[in-house]
Amino acid sequence: MTLYSRIIGTGSYLPEKVLTNRDLEKLVDTSDEWIYSRTGIRQRHVAADHENASDLALNASRRALDAAGLTPQDIDLIIVATTTADMIFPSTACLLQAKLGIRNCPAFDMQAVCSGFVYALATADQLMKSGQYRNALVVGAEVYSRILDWTDRSTCVLFGDGAGAVVLTTSDHPGILASRLHADGSYAHILSVPGGVSRGEISGRPLLQMEGNAVYKFAVKVLSEVAEETLRAAGLAKSDVDWLIPHQANVRIIQSTAKKLGLGMDRVVVTVQRHANTSAASVPLALDEAVRDGRVRAGQNVLLEGVGGGFTWGAVLVRW
Ligand code: ACO
Repeated sequence: MTLYSRIIGTGSYLPEKVLTNRDLEKLVDTSDEWIYSRTGIRQRHVAADHENASDLALNASRRALDAAGLTPQDIDLIIVATTTADMIFPSTACLLQAKLGIRNCPAFDMQAVCSGFVYALATADQLMKSGQYRNALVVGAEVYSRILDWTDRSTCVLFGDGAGAVVLTTSDHPGILASRLHADGSYAHILSVPGGVSRGEISGRPLLQMEGNAVYKFAVKVLSEVAEETLRAAGLAKSDVDWLIPHQANVRIIQSTAKKLGLGMDRVVVTVQRHANTSAASVPLALDEAVRDGRVRAGQNVLLEGVGGGFTWGAVLVRW
C-alpha cells in the first residue's frame, strides 16, 4: 500500500495591529499610490512587542488543530519554517512544542526564507511517507518587522508579520501528489540579512537588504519553471490546477507567474494586498483563507509555491 500525507486542517493568525500605506507615509518618503501600483500592497500586520514567532505560531497551530479535530497530544512531528526565530536556540519549533504542552516528538526549524513553508511541507511529507509519523504540524511564522530598516523606504513597505499552519495525517490516498525543491546560493547577495552573533556581539548588519529588480526577475522565472516541473512529476497538466497559491511578495510577480502558466487570476489566491510579504507565513496564510472561505474544495488540485532568499524555491502539489 502506498502511504501519502494529507492536509486535514489549516489555521492562521495575524497580529492585531495594522499598518496601512498611509501610516507608512508618516515614517518614510513614500505614498500609498507608489506602494500599491508597484506591489499591490495596501496594508500589513505588525506584531506587538510581547509577541514572538512562537506566539504567532501557537495561535495558528491551535486553529489548524481545531480544524483537523485533533489535540496537541495527537501530534508526533513539528516543523516550523521561520527566518525570524524567537532566539538563536532553542528552535522556535521546540518553543512551540512547549507552548502546546506536549513532549518528546521531534521538533525543528526550517530556514529557507520565503520558501520555508514549502520546504517544510515537502520535508514533512517525505518523513510521513516513511510511516514513522501519524500526524504532523507544519507552520510558517514570521516577525519581519524586527529585521527591517524602518528608515529604508525600498524595503520596509514590502513586509508584514503573521503565521499559518497545517496539520498533516498519513493516509492511503493522496494527499500530497508531488513536491520539488531548489536552491542556488550564488544569488545570496540579492536578498539577505547579512548579520550574525559572534563573541557576544552582533556582527555585520542584521537588517534586510535587497536588490528589488533582480529579485523580481528571478522570482518570475523560477516560479513558473518549478510549477511545470512539479506538475510533470505528478503526471498532471497546467489545466489540471484548480488553485495556484504562490508566495505573496508582489502582485505583479504573481500575475506574471500566472500568465506564464496560462492560468487566469480567478484561479490564483492573492492576499498580498492585506498581508504584504510575510515570508514563510505567506503561503499557509493564503491557503487558510482560501480553505475557510470555501474556494478550496475536496478533490481539487492546489499548487503551493515558494521563492525567497538563498535563493531558494519550490512547489508542493496537493490533491485536496
Ligand atoms: N516609495 C516611493 N519611492 C520609492 C520607494 C517607496 N517605498 N521605494 C523605492 N522608491 C524609489 C526608488 O528610490 C527609485 O527612485 P529613483 O528612480 O529616484 O532612484 C524609484 O522608486 C524606482 O525604484 P525601483 O527599485 O526601480 O522600483 P521598481 O519599480 O523596480 O519597484 C520593487 C521596486 C517594488 C521593490 C520591485 O522591484 C519588486 O517588487 N521587486 C521584488 C521584490 C520583492 O518582492 N521582494 C520580496 C522578497 S523576495 C521574495 O519574497 C521572493
